[in-house]
Amino acid sequence: MLKLKPSPIQKVQWQLASDNSISVDIKRDDLLHSVVSGNKWRKLKYLLADAKDKQCSKIITMGGNWSNHLHAVAYAGKELGLKTTGIVRAHAEQALTPTLKDCELWGMELRFTTRKEYVEYREQKAWDFFHNNQPNSYWLSEGGFSELAIKGVMDIADEVDKHYDYIVVACGSGATLCGLAKAFPKSQIIGVAAFSGAEYLRDELTQHLGSNIDNWEIDTKHHCGGFAKTSKDLEDMIEELEQLNSFKLDPVYNGKAFLALQSRLKSGAFSKGKRVLMLHTGGIQGTRCL
Ligand SMILES: Cc1ncc(COP(=O)(O)O)c(C=O)c1O
Repeated sequence: MLKLKPSPIQKVQWQLASDNSISVDIKRDDLLHSVVSGNKWRKLKYLLADAKDKQCSKIITMGGNWSNHLHAVAYAGKELGLKTTGIVRAHAEQALTPTLKDCELWGMELRFTTRKEYVEYREQKAWDFFHNNQPNSYWLSEGGFSELAIKGVMDIADEVDKHYDYIVVACGSGATLCGLAKAFPKSQIIGVAAFSGAEYLRDELTQHLGSNIDNWEIDTKHHCGGFAKTSKDLEDMIEELEQLNSFKLDPVYNGKAFLALQSRLKSGAFSKGKRVLMLHTGGIQGTRCL
């Protein structure tokens, strides 16, 4: 297994936050690894260990043209001696994106699929989904959503010793949000959807977490028009934060999480003295799509 050190927690320099007497820290999971960074390593570590325990020699998973998940799985597979297959929602005749070129370079077999088939794959959650024709394979559903992925995210709690009133994180499948909600029962977790039409996640995650775990919410208003779309506000805010701080923010996920925080700070949604933790989930490779 890859052995990674805990990621640091840093203070975010941000005039808007200090003007509102809110302290904002950032957990730099983007620094966990140069490729398998951010929530990718958190979500994959127990899944890959499980694949090895089950004597599986191949990981099959799915993602889009610029998927951080496919990118991380391809690299981790190479490092751990596992074959990998990526089912990609794209046409085979389209030129490969830099993300998919990396995946191929690291030995991932790419299989292109139609939108309709992709949606069907999305429904499949069981690890042995491909066993009929590929008995040694281990299936990872989109974004790796699973109990083991959530368990991996929960390990973040071992690295955080202060109390935070709010933890803000970008949201795709919601696995990272679920892990945080379970691991930090005394914090309110704000998941910021990176794409439009994410309202369904509220029901889906409620079903998954059960009604006893209710310290979370999904912000569906800061996707800037859809997945990988940006806005002037988003770009200006990222520029301002990057000038004052040592981190980079991808506009696809983490930029939107900060945008949601910015609008809460501006509207006075948090009372003075509250403490906020941003989880940096990595994803810088994905900015090549912009
Ligand atoms: C950089 C980044 N941040 C956040 C997310 C969302 O994570 P989750 O699918 O666990 O909600 C993703 C997608 O997996 C991602 O690539």
